[in-house]
Amino acid sequence: MNNRFLDACWGRPTDRTPVWLMRQAGRYLPEYMAVRSRCSFLELCKTPELAAEVTIQPVDILGVDAAILFSDILTPVEPMGLKLDFVPGPVFDNPVRTMADVEKLRIPDPESDVPYVLQAIRILRRELAGKVPLIGFGGAPFTLACYMVEGKGSKDWAVIKRMMYASPEIFHALMEKVTMMDMEYLNAQIKAGVQAIQIFDTWGGILSPTDYKNYVLPYTTKLINGLNRSQTPIIHFVKGAATMLQTVQQAGADVMGLDWHVNLGSARDTLGPQTAVQGNLDPTVLYAPKGIIEQEVQRILDENAGRPGHIFNLGHGILPTVAPEHAIHMVECVHRLSQR
Ligand code: CP3
Repeated sequence: MNNRFLDACWGRPTDRTPVWLMRQAGRYLPEYMAVRSRCSFLELCKTPELAAEVTIQPVDILGVDAAILFSDILTPVEPMGLKLDFVPGPVFDNPVRTMADVEKLRIPDPESDVPYVLQAIRILRRELAGKVPLIGFGGAPFTLACYMVEGKGSKDWAVIKRMMYASPEIFHALMEKVTMMDMEYLNAQIKAGVQAIQIFDTWGGILSPTDYKNYVLPYTTKLINGLNRSQTPIIHFVKGAATMLQTVQQAGADVMGLDWHVNLGSARDTLGPQTAVQGNLDPTVLYAPKGIIEQEVQRILDENAGRPGHIFNLGHGILPTVAPEHAIHMVECVHRLSQR
């Protein structure tokens, strides 16, 4: 039983630094593409046996220390009442714009509205059989609201920012509802058997630190406080949080996800020994020759300087055009260079 990942989440010493990769199941793997060629992305998410299969692929292929459930942050948003499509980016054709739109949203019941997610978790706990822990995940309320309001990805996120500044009552009503949905959804994942939760706030960093504090932090804090987390560590990844790490820390997660804009050692000095960290290799380093990948892994391990509570990861998701061989090499370097 490999408990390195969970030990590091709780700040306990480990024999080597645990490692996994955000978006480790995906298009850079030919084995994933083989499964994906037979169905759409959403069908894959909604078929528990297939979702479990692609969840396990990177554990076997890369040798990572944790599995992350295969799904999407937007999976539980569809049963709130927004029709979802992937083209390949997510698209909602009826985005949330008015108070009436917010009022129409329902809070899904995970057991009846997203049974396939919970079923995939149960299959995975059986098939992983303790080999590595299983991470569940959800989007932070703000990142989910970004897609729900914009209806798709955006360069400047002007539609949701405009709502935030010009119609704050609509924004807050939406954030409140998404927070309640997330709480139910993530607690259902914990009940079904996930052993850690990662909250992805991919777009938290598009706001000024003051706006993050006023418009986002209260909701993520409420979400984290509402999770049944005594046995289940919470990882909070806010991309673009370099200038507001202590503010993000106030949300109260056990582990702070770090992107590559911070020096991991300085971030740890700022956060203190009670908070574990996860990160933070620039995903594009995986395009470099193997020797450079090794140097960069060593640099991050040196920045951590042997402190317990470090989970090695990329600073954001692995890119679809990376050679699997380079991801395998990165994992091997982390394990070899961190051996104690
Ligand atoms: O990490 C894993 O391996 C688990 C699976 C996972 C997916 N999405 C699968 C996926 C996870 C954890 C996510 C999270 C997610 N989804 C986030 C937060 C993390 C991040 O990358 O910032 C966000 C913002 C989304 C929304 C989303 N889903 C986008 C913007 C896209 C299109 C861009 C892209 O990467 O294709 C998706 C689609 C998606 N989600 C794919 C996968 C494997 C590709 C779909 C395909 O196979 O065609």
